[in-house]
Amino acid sequence: MQENIIPHNFSVDLEQLKAIKNHNAFLIWFTGLSGSGKSTIANALNQLLLEKKVHTCILDGDSVRKGLNQDLTFSPEDRRENIRRIAEVANLMITHAGLVVLGAFISPYESDRTRIKEIVGEDKFIEVYISTTLEECEKRDVKGLYKKARAGEIKDFTGIDAPYEVPQYPSIEIDASKHTVEEASLLVLTYIESKLITNG
Ligand code: ADX
Repeated sequence: MQENIIPHNFSVDLEQLKAIKNHNAFLIWFTGLSGSGKSTIANALNQLLLEKKVHTCILDGDSVRKGLNQDLTFSPEDRRENIRRIAEVANLMITHAGLVVLGAFISPYESDRTRIKEIVGEDKFIEVYISTTLEECEKRDVKGLYKKARAGEIKDFTGIDAPYEVPQYPSIEIDASKHTVEEASLLVLTYIESKLITNG
């Protein structure tokens, strides 16, 4: 089947996109437990980037699973497919739109996160590990899901009866219980600022 797919050679390329947008395009990937603060910090960073006139797109688990990936469960296979599709979408947004993509997904498996890096390219992948502890996430329980998982009303819940594999070499690690949202977003901004600058 794949041998009959011949990609069109589109003439607008990433170099042209970078030149008109005046910044590089890459993926900032937030990983961590549910309720760790991934989407909140990504949202604050998105706001800071907007103020700097950086063209972005933000994607997170709850929004993508409501639409594009509504057919997927939380089994290991479906989580892998969830992350694969998001990585492919992010790759299109980078290469065809010149965007800085912010992705906030639990992405609990190391192998799935390695695959994202392979899809978008190592030089375009920044991994932000939000290392807020399970104890803290469960104490906050913003969406009431930990309570349901403990009661057995949700199966395969990350941190309760499904694993979370800690990133070995993240670009940045932030424990959201030790920083304000503003501080956390500024830490990521400081890390990526030089990467935004184009050569040309
Ligand atoms: S991932 O594991 O496939 O990367 P994703 O980030 O898309 O997960 O979605 C996680 C969100 O789905 C959580 O923040 C939570 O609101 C919700 N959710 C519902 N069921 C589960 C579950 N079994 N495990 C983890 N999160 C769940």
